[in-house]
Amino acid sequence: MEKKIVLLPGDGIGKEIMESAKKVLAAIESEYHHDFVLQECAIGGDALDRYGVPLPDDTLKACEEADAVLLGSVGGPKWDNQPPEFRPEKGLLGIRKGLGLFANLRPVKSFPSLLHASPLKEEIVKDSDMMIVRELTGGLYFGEPRERRNNGEDVVDTLAYSRQEIERIVEKGFESAQIRNKHLTSVDKANVLESSRMWREIVNEKAADYPDVKVEHLLVDAAAMKLITNPSGFDVIVTENLFGDILSDEASVLTGSLGMLPSASVRTDGLGMYEPVHGSAPDIAGKGIANPIGMILSTALMLEYSLGMKEEAKAIETAVMDCLEQGYHTSDLNIKDGKQMSTEEITEAIIENLTTKC
Ligand code: NAI
Ligand code: MG
Repeated sequence: MEKKIVLLPGDGIGKEIMESAKKVLAAIESEYHHDFVLQECAIGGDALDRYGVPLPDDTLKACEEADAVLLGSVGGPKWDNQPPEFRPEKGLLGIRKGLGLFANLRPVKSFPSLLHASPLKEEIVKDSDMMIVRELTGGLYFGEPRERRNNGEDVVDTLAYSRQEIERIVEKGFESAQIRNKHLTSVDKANVLESSRMWREIVNEKAADYPDVKVEHLLVDAAAMKLITNPSGFDVIVTENLFGDILSDEASVLTGSLGMLPSASVRTDGLGMYEPVHGSAPDIAGKGIANPIGMILSTALMLEYSLGMKEEAKAIETAVMDCLEQGYHTSDLNIKDGKQMSTEEITEAIIENLTTKC
């Protein structure tokens, strides 16, 4: 199957871990007889240096024409003193907005060989395997009016959603639950907020279209507690922008290391941008020691969610798990009796597992 993928390496370790993603894609291509057409484009500080803007028009156009987009990371101290419109992060916000990516997917899964690295007790995190589906383009972060009033004595932010905005994210939640373990937890604050009451009504309406999915409603405060007392009790969580921001960061610390976590921002027609959760890590950039696993698992997520290659995605996840079981790790992870490797070495180890199993 021919698929067009745009690669946006960006800045710092983004460039290094994108090399790992390319090698994994090449291995999948030959094992499964696919044809990936890769096109590399500039974003962030890299684009500022080369073209004077954080998001060149050509980059956005190439992404719009692709089947999926893979992003490394953007930013770094070199560009910290740029005016706001010319900061690398503008490129990231611009591309999410430009492509209309309204759903943020964040899977969080515990790794058996890294349970000791979690801040929670091993028996609590043990079987955690969840997906947080967060609304990304509405709610409090974008609602109008937002202003200081009365000579700065009063302030207002607005939590606004349209029915259509809630419907499309709720559908994403149900669709994710359908391809996972068929359990959807909708998180809101319906005891206080009118927007949450409408959210809850829409979830209940949509439930009729997904009879195989079990639906549960949870207030956001209760959800925050359950995440640390019983994280394995979740399968898919769907929630609005602000609640999702907080809960996804809370969930991301469950498994131990920032370098391990993938994410996706998608829209209804399947186009998505896939990226690790971490930033450009200027403190370790250029040393060849970055953990590429978040990037490699983002590649797996891309295969599953945008390119319909579930089996290939599973093969990558298994190869990563096996690699950790074998004790191989980068310097950000602490594995007892393990072998510390460079970015390139651990990528090769993962590919070795991938190609011997396929
Ligand atoms: P960061 O995620 O880049 O780094 C935080 C810490 O985690 C650092 O000590 C770093 O070395 C470590 N780390 C992160 N990813 C790692 C990996 N794959 N392997 C090993 N260690 C890893 O966050 P920080 O330092 O707050 O931000 C650095 C730059 O990245 C800033 O310019 C920031 O704006 C940008 N950033 C970009 C994001 C993106 O592109 N999506 C997200 C977050 C930050
Ligand atoms: Mg956040």
